[in-house]
Amino acid sequence: MIGKTGLTLLLAGGALLMAGTVIAAPNGAELAKKCERCHGKNGISDKKEIPNIAGFSTAYFSDTMTAYKNGTRQGEKFKTEGHDETDMNAIAKSFNEQELTALGDYFASQTFVPREQAFDSKMAKKGKKVYKKRCRKCHTSNGSDPEDDASILAGQSMQYLESQLEQFANGKRTTQPKKMKKQMKKLKEGDMPALLHFFASQQ
Ligand code: HEC
Ligand code: HEC
Repeated sequence: MIGKTGLTLLLAGGALLMAGTVIAAPNGAELAKKCERCHGKNGISDKKEIPNIAGFSTAYFSDTMTAYKNGTRQGEKFKTEGHDETDMNAIAKSFNEQELTALGDYFASQTFVPREQAFDSKMAKKGKKVYKKRCRKCHTSNGSDPEDDASILAGQSMQYLESQLEQFANGKRTTQPKKMKKQMKKLKEGDMPALLHFFASQQ
């Protein structure tokens, strides 16, 4: 038998369920359409300046969007036809936490597709050695494992990765771990381009 309290609880539960359908959770796939003109369909970009974001871990995605929001990472201005110039800082600020979570879940569910891009095999070979010594500890599986929560480097746009290493060096992007900085300082002349060719060689 359902007592009076039980009935009230049932009714309250029903009202909550109804409220739940009214305030629907943000739809990541729908929101991701706002990224498409720059990051391509489902986060696979064909622009050199713009990284693929498909397959990123939710942790890296969330850290990154927070860094854009609070300015510890400064985005480059970018213009596409029919839209005003903007940057990732303004874009990140235009979403609330729930929306960013939905976007992160959506991109984590997509598959990263390595870029087709030119590379020099000799440099890539040298880069692999440098990678093993200086980067592998944090960027595992040749830089392809999203679960490192340190982005995906394997098959990412070479020009994009280069721009980010520059930003770490000149302080525009301040999210570089201390231990990574230490390894970067140890690089010898020619190591950096070799590393970039190594990551680009994974297609
Ligand atoms: C106007 C073009 C533009 C739009 C629209 C855009 N982005 Fe970006 N995004 C960029 C550029 C350019 C970069 C390269 C790095 C930078 O500027 O900091 C970038 C970088 C990023 C990165 C960092 C990738 C990495 O490897 O660390 C993430 C994450 C990202 N964007 C997510 C999004 C999401 C999610 C949306 C849609 C809600 C979006 N972007 C919409 C231009 C855009
Ligand atoms: C101590 C761990 C660690 C080491 C060692 C390390 N990294 Fe990183 N790296 C990270 C983390 C964590 C991030 C993400 C930083 C952030 O949240 O902005 C990162 C980010 C990057 C990015 C930016 C990726 C993007 O999508 O924007 C590049 C490029 C990169 N690392 C290259 C290297 C290279 C090359 C080496 C070796 C010379 C190296 N890292 C060594 C931890 C490390």
